[in-house]
Amino acid sequence: MAILNILNYPDPRLHTIAKPIEVVDNSIRKLVDDMAETMYLAPGIGLAATQVDHHIQLILVDISETKDDLNVLINPQIIEASGHQEYQEGCLSVPDVFELVKRAERIKVKALNYQGKSFEIEADGLLAVCIQHEMDHLLGKVFVDYLSPLKRHRIKTKMKKRVKESLISA
Ligand code: NI
Repeated sequence: MAILNILNYPDPRLHTIAKPIEVVDNSIRKLVDDMAETMYLAPGIGLAATQVDHHIQLILVDISETKDDLNVLINPQIIEASGHQEYQEGCLSVPDVFELVKRAERIKVKALNYQGKSFEIEADGLLAVCIQHEMDHLLGKVFVDYLSPLKRHRIKTKMKKRVKESLISA
């Protein structure tokens, strides 16, 4: 397995629209394994292939405290959504930024699993937030895109400053 580089906002590659995966083969499973290792190390509770510069429809989610409940969703599609919730979201591509985002409270998602088999998952609360957040990445959307232009501008400035500081200290 390998640790992958996570793209940081405002990297334009984060706005790429991901393509569906045609065949779930060993190269896809290798990417899943590497992404899982990368996500757990970060540590994060979700990761989209977009964030590691692979523009295919693949997301991982694990909201368990014990980090042993990995959900692999390939070509995910929301087939039902209801209610509303607001959650303070963060993202591995936007370090140290947390903002409230409104999303559906309950969703039903159809996807392919690690073996390439079709399945459905029903989620609410944090799991529903996380799946919707990761699916947005596949559409080239980062959670800060929901914020006001002023807030987004401040975040961009903060991220650029962060990169500069890390270059100086390196
Ligand atoms: Ni994210």
